[in-house]
Amino acid sequence: MKPILIVEDEAIMRESLQDWLTDGGYQVESATQGDEALKAIEEQDYGLLILDLRLPGADGLEVLRKARAKQPQLNGIIITAYPSVQTAVEAMKEGVIDYLPKPFDLNDLEKLVSQTLGPVQVEIRPETVTCVIDDREVEVRQGATILEAAQSIGIDIPTLCHHEKLSPYGACRLCIVEIIRGQRSRLVTSCVYIVEDGLIVKTESEQVVKIRKMLLELMWARAPGVQPLVNYGMRYGISGLESKGNYELSGASETKFEVEPNFCILCGLCVRYCAEVKGKNAIGFIGRGTEREVMFFPEIASKECADCKECFAICPTGALPPHYALIEEGAST
Ligand code: SF4
Ligand code: FES
Repeated sequence: MKPILIVEDEAIMRESLQDWLTDGGYQVESATQGDEALKAIEEQDYGLLILDLRLPGADGLEVLRKARAKQPQLNGIIITAYPSVQTAVEAMKEGVIDYLPKPFDLNDLEKLVSQTLGPVQVEIRPETVTCVIDDREVEVRQGATILEAAQSIGIDIPTLCHHEKLSPYGACRLCIVEIIRGQRSRLVTSCVYIVEDGLIVKTESEQVVKIRKMLLELMWARAPGVQPLVNYGMRYGISGLESKGNYELSGASETKFEVEPNFCILCGLCVRYCAEVKGKNAIGFIGRGTEREVMFFPEIASKECADCKECFAICPTGALPPHYALIEEGAST
């Protein structure tokens, strides 16, 4: 079976997709930019391209177009955090198998891949794997994440973007842990990393704690004083987070990052909840990098949200009411 090429500039998404499909038995390669993908396609025949729509270099549709000029039967799936009718139509004209707005369910993607490439020869694997987390041996089902394995023995790894009912997203990185193989160690995101047999995991190593503290301070700069950050600030004894817990009263922060509150930490819980549980896609992300933010899409939200607003409760920072108020304002003008 020919390999799959994932073309995605967002590291977390790229790695999660690659891990997921590799675990499913597919041979998977990846590229971060359109130009890099085109070079790879020159050198190798692929069975399927999974392309982010917006890429540095050539965009996803351009890559597909050029790849098809070389290999007309090549199939493509477009994934995008910026869905629009126009790009969906363009993608369909290019003959893509599907156009998936992010976040999407990884099981849906795997189904599309399997329909396109055919079923993989599944190696018979034992039903469980055993790993060691913080010096404790734990046996879990194949496919369990490190986070699930840790939770199964009562080890509390901090999380902000994880929800057991929603697909893993790996956005906040707070659940980072250290894994050790032989003499080498590396940091991975435990809510998306699948446990392998014999894996050794440290959930609170010095390096892990240092990074978690920095992440918490960065998030605090966006969402000062919100309760989950206060709680984690206390847990890790971060000066400025635990002592200035009530930001509204203190109005200041002693952390090293400049506070620019917009109260969204980009965890994606609201976006995934609306897409996966409610099936509405009334809220999504717009913008890139520091400009990235959540937005209710007026044409959907004005019809669907008034009697729902369930995402308000799932948001860890209470960021949504001001965003939704814009929809209400729009409806009353
Ligand atoms: S609005 Fe809340 S739930 Fe949505 S991404 Fe931002 S912090 Fe997460
Ligand atoms: S909980 Fe794992 S990245 Fe947020």
